[in-house]
Amino acid sequence: VKEPTYYINTKFVPKSKAYVHVNDLGFLRGYGVFDFLVTYNKKPFLLNKHVRRLFNSAEQIGLKIPCRNQEMTSLINKCVRKNTRFRELAIKIIITGGISKDGLTPSDTSTLAILTNQRKKLPGKLYKEGAKVITVDIQRDIPTAKTLNYTNAVYSMKLARKASAVEAIYIDKKEDVVYEGTTSNLFLVKKSKIFTPETDILPGVTRELVISLAKKHFKLETKKISFRQLITADEVFITASNKEVLPIVKVDRNKINGEAPGKVTKKIISEYKEYINTGKW
Ligand SMILES: Cc1ncc(COP(=O)(O)O)c(C=O)c1O
Repeated sequence: VKEPTYYINTKFVPKSKAYVHVNDLGFLRGYGVFDFLVTYNKKPFLLNKHVRRLFNSAEQIGLKIPCRNQEMTSLINKCVRKNTRFRELAIKIIITGGISKDGLTPSDTSTLAILTNQRKKLPGKLYKEGAKVITVDIQRDIPTAKTLNYTNAVYSMKLARKASAVEAIYIDKKEDVVYEGTTSNLFLVKKSKIFTPETDILPGVTRELVISLAKKHFKLETKKISFRQLITADEVFITASNKEVLPIVKVDRNKINGEAPGKVTKKIISEYKEYINTGKW
């Protein structure tokens, strides 16, 4: 049986035996943080950056970190080695406030779980032909932290699937600001220049890499983006650890670039692949 091995609170256990207590603050109150990354050639991609962001998320909500940065890194690597029977992995690291006595006070021992599953990719067709997104007038609570509260994401993705879209983009209609996807960051291209929102978003690891790769070939600016700027863009793409760089050709009912992936997006996709293939990360 191909069952992944998870790590939960000092133990490696098969997925079917991986449980947390019902009085865990993550379950009771959604008090916790997580991070997500994938492997290439069985090596975790930009692991240090993900661990750093995980700890930064924890710090933002005052959550006790269960171990040091170095320990976390080696623990994740150990978990990967216990799952080599899978070609590539999707890794989710979760830290919660632990088992609470009164349902509100975090425990001295945070819960730590590392979930390693076989990586699932989006259909290749979406990368060749481009995908659709919808916009939702919803904002994330503590946008710079990857907290466990993804209620808005679950709700918004239900609407997205109904509209045959791959992602929902959070916007603020009243303030006219475009933020990010439920699990991705957003970029647009106008007159060969690249733009991406700057504040009140999750600092995506893929976003950061794409920014540095893009700057070698294009002008790039991080700034506030309006809804109109989004739907009148020459090109749109989203980035995320699992999705990588995905061309967006429709935003709600608005076609982008005649519903075809654009030149700049294609260049970024090839640069991203090239960077992965170097293996030097
Ligand atoms: C809200 C949000 N924004 C952006 C991202 C993309 O981040 P990354 O590129 O580090 O995967 C994610 C990832 O899941 C996310 O949840």
